[in-house]
Amino acid sequence: MAPPAVIPFQIPPMPARSLTVELGERSYTICIGRGLLGDPQALAPHLGRGAVGVVTDATVAPLYLDRLRGAVGERLAFVEVLPVGEEHKNLATLARLYDVLIDARLERSGTLLALGGGVVGDITGFAAATWQRGVRFIQLPTTLLAQVDSSVGGKTAVNHPRGKNMIGAFHQPAFVLADIDTLRTLPAREYAAGLAEVLKYGLIGDREFHDWLQRHAAGLGAREPELLEEAVYRSCANKARVVAADEREGEGGVRALLNLGHTFGHALETATGYRHFLHGEAVAVGMALAAELSQRLGWIDAAEVAELRGLLGRLGLPTEVPASLDSATLIELMRGDKKSAGGRIRLVLLRRIGEACLTSDFTPAQLQAVLDDSRARAGGARA
Ligand SMILES: NC(=O)c1ccc[n+]([C@@H]2O[C@H](COP(=O)([O-])OP(=O)(O)OC[C@H]3O[C@@H](n4cnc5c(N)ncnc54)[C@H](O)[C@@H]3O)[C@@H](O)[C@H]2O)c1
Ligand SMILES: [Zn+2]
Repeated sequence: MAPPAVIPFQIPPMPARSLTVELGERSYTICIGRGLLGDPQALAPHLGRGAVGVVTDATVAPLYLDRLRGAVGERLAFVEVLPVGEEHKNLATLARLYDVLIDARLERSGTLLALGGGVVGDITGFAAATWQRGVRFIQLPTTLLAQVDSSVGGKTAVNHPRGKNMIGAFHQPAFVLADIDTLRTLPAREYAAGLAEVLKYGLIGDREFHDWLQRHAAGLGAREPELLEEAVYRSCANKARVVAADEREGEGGVRALLNLGHTFGHALETATGYRHFLHGEAVAVGMALAAELSQRLGWIDAAEVAELRGLLGRLGLPTEVPASLDSATLIELMRGDKKSAGGRIRLVLLRRIGEACLTSDFTPAQLQAVLDDSRARAGGARA
């Protein structure tokens, strides 16, 4: 039979968008777009001189490893598939990863690729920071949270049994490649949890982005690719700006503002044994509470708080503290947070929508009232 006369037409991938994290000699590019994981041209210029190793997890590997293999080609020296989940972001997993690096004889010229969510990125980044005192690594984030937050900024860590992210290092990636096509397979809750971190950027420093998110909430909920690409791009641009200004989260620096909703959120995660909320869900509740407290301080108005709650709700995120939790316990947990100083709780609050500050300018009674009122609303909603 004669070969077909017409070569099937393939739609070329959309041109990717890129931006730079300006950190002097540690500067790097973030590339965002569709179809990037399988594109050798996107990755090749960043692979360095030596061997390449891929670290991923057992959920991501069957979905995306083949695409990446094709793009890396013969340089690929090994693939390590980690078990899935935060409970494996620990020293035992890290030790096994070092064993793999020893077996593979990865030299200082080598490069590690982290293909997966924030867990894979954080472990791989810490291994890269410490292996032979530091090797190159590239972030290939496949969750929305990782694309807009954890893959950018160079924080790497594993957990200690008694504290999250307690063992870590600052080690910037050499390149970040966010293929938004991977977000299609993300479970709905994981996707929504990532949107919470997207919303955070608008609230703390980009009013225009916040308004854009309001306008496009429905399309974002439906994961429309053009909107997603724009949302990831603008989130990364915001994070890159903050990281460039304050790489190591210095005292009084702007990087602390990225913790909007997080002191509340961490308390909620801890109080519920990390079983009830995904991190982004707890942050969503925390942002609603931060807005509420900001309103009590006269900084934003009730309509803006209601609008934010509405937006979080439309994106599939929770906004209230479960009625079963106790406010005093939550406040105690918040006192132990890294952001607190001398037993005084400090919180990122909203001077207005699009402008945040780190402050302890509120009374314990105001904080208590915000938590109590939220629990009352949650209880009412359930009844
Ligand atoms: N380094 C930082 O600056 C920073 C910032 C924020 C969060 N973090 C860390 O990130 C971690 C959370 O990251 P996460 O939310 O990405 O969690 P995760 O890495 O556990 O991924 C969530 C789940 O989604 C799966 N998954 C990943 N990509 C997928 C895809 N495309 N399709 C289907 N399933 C997919 C994973 O296997 C996992 O089950 C936490 O450990 C947190 O401490 C780090
Ligand atoms: Zn977060």
